Amino acid sequence: MRDTKPVRKALVCFFRRAAQFRESLTAKDTPGDRRNTHYASSLHAIVAYVETLPDDHPTLEMLAQCDPLYDELERTCGGEAMFNLGYYSNYAGGAFACGRCHTTGWSYDEKGPDGNGALGPSLRGDVSTTRFPGPVVGFDQQVEFVCTGSEHGVRYGQNGQGTGRMPGFCQTPAEAPNPAETGEVGVEAREASDPATVGGMYSLEDVQEIVRYVRSL
Ligand code: HEC
Repeated sequence: MRDTKPVRKALVCFFRRAAQFRESLTAKDTPGDRRNTHYASSLHAIVAYVETLPDDHPTLEMLAQCDPLYDELERTCGGEAMFNLGYYSNYAGGAFACGRCHTTGWSYDEKGPDGNGALGPSLRGDVSTTRFPGPVVGFDQQVEFVCTGSEHGVRYGQNGQGTGRMPGFCQTPAEAPNPAETGEVGVEAREASDPATVGGMYSLEDVQEIVRYVRSL
């Protein structure tokens, strides 16, 4: 069977972007779940089509040439996707996604520009690079912060003062405060574990991708 993974990756990214773009144009004429089903089936149809092509089909050659782009695509798309985890899948698994706290309207399908500030502060503009300066040191510190979350009264970055409301992401959030009201599911209490090896909502690599995205906002 043909390896359609790169095609799949690129298309997922493409559809996600298309969904976001469409959203910004037409606000909310289609509910999240239906929209998602629609994109998923288009994706499926295209992958199925690619699988039927003969080996010497020019499309395959074109796709092969795009190969080096896929990783890059997935990296940027991946961070963005994880920032908004759940937004395009009717909030499945997205209870604690960054967007929920950092983007206005995120929880009710009318999100503003990513990270424009809601319960959590705005992450746009120079916010990240001022709070966590330096492409290497600052980047690592920001990754560390997102991994462990904030603690009440504990400083972070440059002049940051934690309130404890920012969860850590390299470990499973310990509790869903009021599941009946927020509809949060799948959030199970677990011991905080070594982010490099075990469990957690995101791996260290995931958080690095997310932070890369956040720093570009
Ligand atoms: C439950 C709500 C919540 C979620 C989910 C959340 N944050 Fe936060 N975040 C906060 C709050 C609140 C702060 C402010 C610090 C504090 O109050 O402790 C913050 C602060 C930050 C800061 C520091 C901003 C600054 O200028 O001080 C960054 C960076 C950040 N969050 C990134 C993220 C990323 C990336 C994610 C997703 C992986 C995320 N946050 C998910 C609530 C949240």
